Amino acid sequence: MDGNRAKKKGVKKARHELMVKFPTAGIVSNQPITCMDGHSPDGLLLLFLKHHCLRCESSFWYSGGFDEHNEVMHDEEIVCSTCKQVVDHSAVHTLKNKYIFLILVFLLGIPPSLSVPTKPRIFNCQRPKSRRASASSESRPRLATAPPLRLFGSVATMCGIFAYLNYNVGRERRYILEVLLNGLRRLEYRGYDSSGIAIDSDMSSVMQSKSKPYDTAPPVVFRQEGKIESLVTSVYSEVDKLDLDLEKPFLVHAGIAHTRWATHGVPAPRNSHPQSSGEFDEFLVVHNGIITNYEVLKQTLVRHGFTFESDTDTEVIPKLAKFVFDKASDGEGGVTFSQVVMEVMRQLEGAYALIFKSPHYPNELIACKRGSTLLLGVNELGGETSRHLFHDVKALTANDKPKELFFSSDLCAIVEHTKNYAAVEDDEIVHIKDGSVSILKFDYEKEKPASVQRALSVLEMEVEQIKKGDFDHFMKKEIHEQPDSLTTSMRGRLKDGVVGLGGLKDHMRTIRRSRRIIFIGCGTSYHAALAARPIMEELTDIPVTMEIASDMLDRKALIFKEDTAVFVSQSGETADTLLALEYALQHGALCVGVTNTVGSTLARKTHCGVHINAGCEIGVASTKAYTCQIVVMVMMALAIGSDKMSTLAKREAIIAGLTKLPEKVHDVLKLDGEMKALAQSLIDEQSLLMFGRGNNYATALEGALKVKEVALMHSEGMLAGEMKHGPLALVDEYLPIIVIATRDDSFSKQQSVIQQLHARKGRLIVMCSEGDASLVCPDGRSRVIEVPRIVDCLQSIINIIPMQLLAYHLTVLRGYNVDQPRNLAKSVTTQ
Ligand code: F6R
Repeated sequence: MDGNRAKKKGVKKARHELMVKFPTAGIVSNQPITCMDGHSPDGLLLLFLKHHCLRCESSFWYSGGFDEHNEVMHDEEIVCSTCKQVVDHSAVHTLKNKYIFLILVFLLGIPPSLSVPTKPRIFNCQRPKSRRASASSESRPRLATAPPLRLFGSVATMCGIFAYLNYNVGRERRYILEVLLNGLRRLEYRGYDSSGIAIDSDMSSVMQSKSKPYDTAPPVVFRQEGKIESLVTSVYSEVDKLDLDLEKPFLVHAGIAHTRWATHGVPAPRNSHPQSSGEFDEFLVVHNGIITNYEVLKQTLVRHGFTFESDTDTEVIPKLAKFVFDKASDGEGGVTFSQVVMEVMRQLEGAYALIFKSPHYPNELIACKRGSTLLLGVNELGGETSRHLFHDVKALTANDKPKELFFSSDLCAIVEHTKNYAAVEDDEIVHIKDGSVSILKFDYEKEKPASVQRALSVLEMEVEQIKKGDFDHFMKKEIHEQPDSLTTSMRGRLKDGVVGLGGLKDHMRTIRRSRRIIFIGCGTSYHAALAARPIMEELTDIPVTMEIASDMLDRKALIFKEDTAVFVSQSGETADTLLALEYALQHGALCVGVTNTVGSTLARKTHCGVHINAGCEIGVASTKAYTCQIVVMVMMALAIGSDKMSTLAKREAIIAGLTKLPEKVHDVLKLDGEMKALAQSLIDEQSLLMFGRGNNYATALEGALKVKEVALMHSEGMLAGEMKHGPLALVDEYLPIIVIATRDDSFSKQQSVIQQLHARKGRLIVMCSEGDASLVCPDGRSRVIEVPRIVDCLQSIINIIPMQLLAYHLTVLRGYNVDQPRNLAKSVTTQ
């Protein structure tokens, strides 16, 4: 071996070692480097390292080097490119993607944004005094040894993705279209500003005149702005124009679909998904999530001749797939679909669930995810016995039976087809090919992914849950379902006067010993926690503080190891709540989840928790989840405080109340007609105030939130104790004010609030306990809503129901969309 070759080999070896050691650095050049102490090591490599500035939270690249002992060297001062502050280099090394630079640099060249020094650089060498010292992790950048918890570095968008693949079972094109469109209808609550689908065309029809780079039928893509029904109309009219035969059967066919809630780019067909790799739609992708590094990927792809048509972050994904595919196809031999997707995954930062379709891989589908939820549904056709086979993925991969396979962001789009499903985990790639399913685990450290065995679960959900039944709207159905949802929430958890919460039992000692309990959530979930706060404090003797997740993050609130942080979220996917969870985990608090969504990120990332079991909530405005959240938190308070003799009588009263609760909720629902009449009287109002206190401060906030979010009427919930400190100025004979004055410790104070409001000729609507009308309104001038009475900490559950009904009727009477209010989506997975 000559000297040159040996040197090259040495450099290659060093590079390899460095990449293993500092996996997220990008090797850019082997410029000579001199240390500040005059030591001039040989065989050096100049690297670009990505840093995260803890001050301004931006990331930036800077150059550094490694000496012959692979110790890091860098300038004495590292200055953040955004805030221009000197950063603490012992704490800034949080590189995100170990291969992104490698791949981009080796495949695409050096990004122009990074200038490679032409002159030798002098660095501050952290040369260890001895080899032993060099092993100290302190002297090295704190690079993650495992891939970072990516979900929390970025947040996903709200969207719904769906796919349908039929195998060995003939399905007409019309049927396939309907399955896809229906899947979107089920997911529409997740986003409703645009949508799209992709199916196969016929070899003889679309684009046959052009020389396409594959031999199979090209896909046809339909994308439309607006609700799913606009897509439906446009699909059928396009099908006519393209002369696609709707009755044509396919023994195997793979279709993908997407419903969007815009974040990057206005709602428009070009921004809708499937997003395409370009001409001939060689790769099509539907995406739920956000790609945080899309700009850098886009710049690179543009330099390699790609033209972008949309404003989305998603478009880089199919284009990257094509880029990887083309590069691989240039070399020797082909590349499999999963290899392409794996390379794409290496480049992506952010949170996502993706489904890929490609005419290069006809009748195959690939899905992968990091962060966003993704489920696989399996319906094997032809007999009960075969069902068992699906409890083993090996059997899935081996069997050739007719089947239908689905991918979906939510089980509610799968349940009408099958109850057999598996939740795809982060960094998994699910490949459907020839009717078999293989699951691969992507690992940054490894070239080859490991194969994963996954048994299917059986979905405990009935199709009725996702249908409106006799109700006009999901919101109405869900309000009226509350006696049942509350019963289900309590089922199996209340036995012989004792509360058992299996999900908490192993952590009960830690919770009881905690210095404080912090309730964290957003919107309605925050209100539910607020409603449960008084009883949590009363029964546990532990101080309870409240945090709105976004505010907690903005303030970087103090949180300690001795804290128990309770995260409340219906969806379990709310970005702010998940980021707050990440924050609390980093600070060592015990993290408890309260969620409606089995398998959600919240359920998976918390140390322990309780499912509220409210059933599928489809209306965007949360109703039954709210009341079930309160019940679960009341049960938590009972369980945590169960060792205290001093509160025994109260606990018994609450347990008695819980048993009666569904029946009382049933009774309060009879106010439906009365609330409709009240709504009629408020239909033209501009504004509505709600005053509550104690257990019912949350009721005022939540009632007002319901009115504003669906009825699009300004409404504010206020603490009655604060009335005289400002809001009283608003009071006149026109502004409607709802005062909650049901029986509890605050009753007499609320009576005095009512008197003060009367004295200012306030236009009052008073909610009181049954039989108290004359007490709260002696002169009979105000409108009164009488509700059934229950133990104080459960009264907020009863009291919110007339408010939910009021919001519902106001919305319908004002002519707005109840289930899909303007600008809102069911789970808010953006910050
Ligand atoms: C209002 C509503 C929202 C959610 C909030 C948090 O009806 O639904 O305020 O409560 O976006 O969502 P989750 O509970 O999914 O974390």
